[in-house]
Amino acid sequence: MAEVRLDRVVKRYPGLAADAVQETSLTFEDGLFTCILGPSGSGKSTILKLLAGIEEVTSGRILMDGADITNVTPERRDVAMVFQSYALYPNMNARDNIAFPLMLRGLGRQERYRHVEEVAEMLGIRGLLDRQPRALSGGERQRVALGRAIVRSPKVFLLDEPISNLDANLRATTREELKRIHQRLGATFIYVTHDQDDAEAMSDRVVLMARGSVQQYDTPTAIYRRPANRFVASFVGRLPMSFVRGEIREEEGRLRFDSGPVWVDLAGRRGLPAGPVVVGVRPEGVTISSSRGAPMVGKVTLTEVVAPDLYATVSVGDVSLRARVPGEHVVGVGDEVGVTFVRSLLHFFDATSGERIVVEDEPATVRSWDVAV
Ligand SMILES: Nc1ncnc2c1ncn2[C@@H]1O[C@H](COP(=O)(O)OP(=O)(O)O)[C@@H](O)[C@H]1O
Ligand SMILES: [Mg+2]
Repeated sequence: MAEVRLDRVVKRYPGLAADAVQETSLTFEDGLFTCILGPSGSGKSTILKLLAGIEEVTSGRILMDGADITNVTPERRDVAMVFQSYALYPNMNARDNIAFPLMLRGLGRQERYRHVEEVAEMLGIRGLLDRQPRALSGGERQRVALGRAIVRSPKVFLLDEPISNLDANLRATTREELKRIHQRLGATFIYVTHDQDDAEAMSDRVVLMARGSVQQYDTPTAIYRRPANRFVASFVGRLPMSFVRGEIREEEGRLRFDSGPVWVDLAGRRGLPAGPVVVGVRPEGVTISSSRGAPMVGKVTLTEVVAPDLYATVSVGDVSLRARVPGEHVVGVGDEVGVTFVRSLLHFFDATSGERIVVEDEPATVRSWDVAV
C-alpha cells in the first residue's frame, strides 16, 4: 500500500501550446480507489503516465510514501499499469501473459505458474489460461491484462479506461469485480475514466479534471451534491443541471433570488452576497405540481424517460428548467404546471468566475457514509 503525491507537477508536451497538466499538487490516498474523471483531452492519461514513469514531468516532483520517485525508472517504481488496449503479447497464451512480469523478475517456471493460478482463481479465468489472446473475448482479455498487473502485487495500480471497450452489461459486472479486487488487495487504485458511472460505482475519491487542471477532489457524493464550480456541476449528473442567471437582493429584510419570471425566497440562508449570481438546480431540486394557485407557473416543453423516472422540461417565461416528475404524476408537452424549488438543493455560483458560493448552512463535506466501504 502506498500514498502517491504530485507536488507542483507540470507536464508540457513539445509543440503543444497549452500545458497538458497545469501545475498540480494532489495526494492519492493510501489504499483508496481514486478515479481521475474528466472529458477527453483533459490530461487524465498524462497524469497516469507520469505516475507510471513512462512520461517525464516538465517540472515538479512525484512522491511515493514520501520518497521522491520523480527520476526512478518505470520498472523500479512499485506500480502496475493496465491500458485500455490491454497490450497483451499476441503469441503467448494467457498463462504466460500473466506470468510475464514474474519471468522478468527471474522466478522459476513452477513458481510463476503457481502465482498465475492464484490470480486466475481470483479473476475467474482458470479455464482460459491455455488460450491465445485472439481466442479471448474483450472482457476476457481485460481480465488477463488485470491478472498481469495483480501478479506483480504492486503497491499502486494505474488503470487507464480498462473497461471502456466492454459492452454496458459487462461494464457493470466488471465494476463490481474491480471493487471487490480492490478491497481484497487493499492497494492504492488510480483509475482514469471519462465515464461518471465508473466513478460513482467504484471510487472512494474523485479527481475531476478539465483542460489540464484539477477542478475538484472529493468523494463521489460530494462532487454531485456540492460541485466546486459550474464545470463540475455540468459534467456530473445523468441529466444536465439547469442554470438561471439572476440577482440576489434583500427585500424588507428577506433575501430573494430574482430572475424575472423565476424567483426564490431565500429567507434564512446565510452567506449569500447580494448581487448577480447563477443558480444551478438539478431535476430533483425542481418540483412540479398543479398550476392552480401556484406562485410560479410554466409550460411543459419536453418530457424524457430515464427509467424509472419521468422528467419534464418546463419553460417559465424565458427560463428553462428540468424537473423530475413525482411517480404518480402524468404530464405531457403543453401542460401548464406549478413550479417550486427545493431550496436545500439549489447551488449558487459566482456570475463571473463560475465558482461555487459556499452557503453557511450547507452540510459538512465528508461524512462517513459518503465513502464507499
Ligand atoms: N505524446 C503526446 N505528445 C503531444 N501531446 C500529447 C501527447 N499525449 C497527450 N497529448 C495532449 O495532451 C493533452 C492531454 O492528453 P491526455 O492526457 O491523453 O488526455 P485524456 O486522457 O484526459 O483524454 C491533449 O491535448 C493531448 O492531445
Ligand atoms: Mg486518456
